[in-house]
Amino acid sequence: MSLALAPVAAPVAPARPASPRVAELLVHDLAVAYGAAPPIFTGVGFAVGRSERVALIGANGAGKSTLLRSCLGFVAPLSGEILLFGRRVGEGKPGVRRALRGDVGFVAQKHNLVPRLSVLSNVVHGTLAEASGPRRWLQGLAPKAVRERAFAALDVVGLADLALRRADALSGGQSQRVAIARALVAEPRLMLADEPAASLDPAAGEEVMGVFAKVSRDTGTTLIFTTHHLDHALRHADRVIGLAGGRLRLDAPAATLALDSLHGLYG
Ligand SMILES: Nc1ncnc2c1ncn2[C@@H]1O[C@H](COP(=O)(O)OP(=O)(O)OP(=O)(O)O)[C@@H](O)[C@H]1O
Ligand SMILES: [Mg+2]
Repeated sequence: MSLALAPVAAPVAPARPASPRVAELLVHDLAVAYGAAPPIFTGVGFAVGRSERVALIGANGAGKSTLLRSCLGFVAPLSGEILLFGRRVGEGKPGVRRALRGDVGFVAQKHNLVPRLSVLSNVVHGTLAEASGPRRWLQGLAPKAVRERAFAALDVVGLADLALRRADALSGGQSQRVAIARALVAEPRLMLADEPAASLDPAAGEEVMGVFAKVSRDTGTTLIFTTHHLDHALRHADRVIGLAGGRLRLDAPAATLALDSLHGLYG
């Protein structure tokens, strides 16, 4: 079906918005460039409703990571705007921007755990935006309430029994689940994940994506993830959006898409 390559108008209404009035994330007519180089993409627009799970796909270099970084305020738009929870990203005093970012959890392809510290200490690090210092570095020094939150986050990803193990004694899949717990402990409204399963074997990758989808379903956390695994996009997202040729070329409910129809994005 030709749906995969149909251009979409911007902004596009979410497929199943939990709150039709205020999108959790609204990207409007966005163009992003690095320095004086030509834009990576232009005219990108879409909206993500509360509790939606959205997969962002596209070929290497299409701009998926750039788009996520823009949503985090790390890359300024050339034109257009991004609203997170109704507030414009990149505007306001540093405290306001920090608070906005505090509502967004980020999980990268590489988990970046501190290898010599325990799993629990690594999860406690997810609260560093709230307060810094040794009491947020080592679980043994952390306030009881913080330690309990970290345990709860580990429980959600099914690793509470490994809380005191050193992080460098985990498998890749377990490490990535700890990274999810580290993001979750801050109780984000929105989770962004950039190829969270890319460095994992098929079974571990499937497990990690399953954890993401379950967490999102159970807690109502909105989830946007990038992936090159089209089956992950179709099975773990409600909706799939795709970048190609510097434009948003796909925005459709996952249930309406077939695997074959997505290959056109990679031409
Ligand atoms: N910091 C940067 N400075 C200049 N150019 C950059 C920078 N980061 C990315 N780019 C360029 O922007 C384009 C989009 O890169 P991006 O990493 O967003 O793509 P991607 O879709 O995430 O690719 P992949 O699937 O390989 O992760 C690429 O051409 C890349 O070289
Ligand atoms: Mg990328």
